[in-house]
Amino acid sequence: MTRHTLVEMGRRDMLRLGGTALAVAGAPLPVLAQGTPPLKIGMVGAGREGGALGTLWAKAGHQVMFSSRHPEELKTLVDGIGATAHAGTVEQAVAFGDVVVIVVPYTAMQQIGKDYAAALAGKVLVMDVSNPIARRDGDDLVKWVDAQGGAGLATAKSLPGAKIVRAFNAIGYSKLTADAHRPGDPVGVPIAGDDAKAIAVASSLAKEIGFEPVLVGGLAMGRYLVPGTPLGGEHTPADIKQIVATLH
Ligand SMILES: NC(=O)c1ccc[n+]([C@@H]2O[C@H](COP(=O)([O-])OP(=O)(O)OC[C@H]3O[C@@H](n4cnc5c(N)ncnc54)[C@H](OP(=O)(O)O)[C@@H]3O)[C@@H](O)[C@H]2O)c1
Repeated sequence: MTRHTLVEMGRRDMLRLGGTALAVAGAPLPVLAQGTPPLKIGMVGAGREGGALGTLWAKAGHQVMFSSRHPEELKTLVDGIGATAHAGTVEQAVAFGDVVVIVVPYTAMQQIGKDYAAALAGKVLVMDVSNPIARRDGDDLVKWVDAQGGAGLATAKSLPGAKIVRAFNAIGYSKLTADAHRPGDPVGVPIAGDDAKAIAVASSLAKEIGFEPVLVGGLAMGRYLVPGTPLGGEHTPADIKQIVATLH
């Protein structure tokens, strides 16, 4: 399946999702600049990276619920974005989203799975932006992740049944806004996943905020998207394809 086909599938999925999630009887559906209807996106983690990514999607026209265990602390963020941004608890964001984006310290992943795996299994896409980092999360956590086959398969173990795609894992929060829609060569976003529809929706979401998604393989390849691994850091789409060729 070509990436073009996947993106087209994503558009159809987004049209269908927008229709079911947001249509009001008789009212025309709103559409984004790219011609797709907005999705409802639940952000689990609205810190530096989750706040920046969710802001890009909300400004693109999606309905985004940012979440925190202290949602009152998100007021400045959502007020600054406008009507497409909302604040809630983690539980509310998981319930809200057609798509849920998890952007938390990796140590929280297993607990999120215990609390929300059943709900997350019903989403068209769970985007995993989180990384296991020894200096922050500890050596034991990183050893456990490695024992599962790396960050992609470890996330799948923590969130059984979820249609997971890893994406945006190595693009720093401070660069996201400047990199989005940058002139010239776009910044490539390596993505790894096993579910074709989830990959298609993730690809559309990356393109809508001005990045070029590059499917690098199944979820097992998600281990190479962590900072410090071959696909960590920023690369052009062509560079990503070259690096991937060295990994097979
Ligand atoms: N920073 C970057 O440039 C960057 C780039 C790519 C990927 N990442 C990855 O993204 C993840 C987040 O990094 P960050 O820099 O954004 O961290 P951060 O600024 O410290 O934000 C962490 C977020 O996770 C939430 N959180 C923590 N524990 C939680 C739990 N048990 N349940 C629900 N939410 C929880 C926090 O919510 P509360 O308000 O409830 O505390 C907060 O919104 C990490 O895995 C990191 O490796 C970061």
